[in-house]
Amino acid sequence: MAGRKVRLRPVAVDDAELLELWQSPEYVGEFNVFGVKGRPVRERIEENGLVTSEGGTLIVALQPNHKPIGSVSWRGVRYGPNPQSVAWNIGINLIPEARGRGFGTEAQRLLAAHLFATTPVNRIEASTDVENVAEQRALEKAGFVKEGVLRGAQYRPGGWHDLVVYACVRETP
Ligand SMILES: CC(C)(COP(=O)(O)OP(=O)(O)OC[C@H]1O[C@@H](n2cnc3c(N)ncnc32)[C@H](O)[C@@H]1OP(=O)(O)O)[C@@H](O)C(=O)NCCC(=O)NCCS
Repeated sequence: MAGRKVRLRPVAVDDAELLELWQSPEYVGEFNVFGVKGRPVRERIEENGLVTSEGGTLIVALQPNHKPIGSVSWRGVRYGPNPQSVAWNIGINLIPEARGRGFGTEAQRLLAAHLFATTPVNRIEASTDVENVAEQRALEKAGFVKEGVLRGAQYRPGGWHDLVVYACVRETP
């Protein structure tokens, strides 16, 4: 999936070290510090390339030199017991020096288009801290519509936080 400024590509085993590094507090940014540690990234890449039927991760790379600058991810959230009622919740993290240059907007627009094209979901959503102005603006510019506030939804060391929910819904003819 290629845009004008960035492209999204699958994760390779060679990305393991970079993805581990990007999990450190100085890379994730103030809104993404949760104090949890998952299984080693390399092990998970070797298992499934970080894409399963329940979600996935792709690398965001610059155009035209393909330098990796972050990652986008998605996971299924269920709004009913049938498969049609699963939506994707997406997330993004860019390295500090790549922020504020329009890359996050384009990466999220590309991810939504990719997920609508390759999976049957009807809804793609994203939630972010009410204070994360950059992400809210990036989502709006990527075509997501603000739907409301989830009060006290997210715990990060130090306390509970309100999240703003944005979504886009598949256009039906
Ligand atoms: C949030 C994030 C994905 C946004 O992507 P980005 O490439 O930095 O944002 P863009 O350059 O596409 O800018 C989007 C808009 O937000 C604005 N913006 C960017 N940084 C901002 C800031 N710190 N404060 C206020 N507005 C900001 C931009 O000016 C732009 O709006 P404009 O075109 O009207 O001027 C990126 O900054 C990031 O990865 N941050 C750390 C991780 C994170 O917060 N992820 C989301 C958590 S849920």
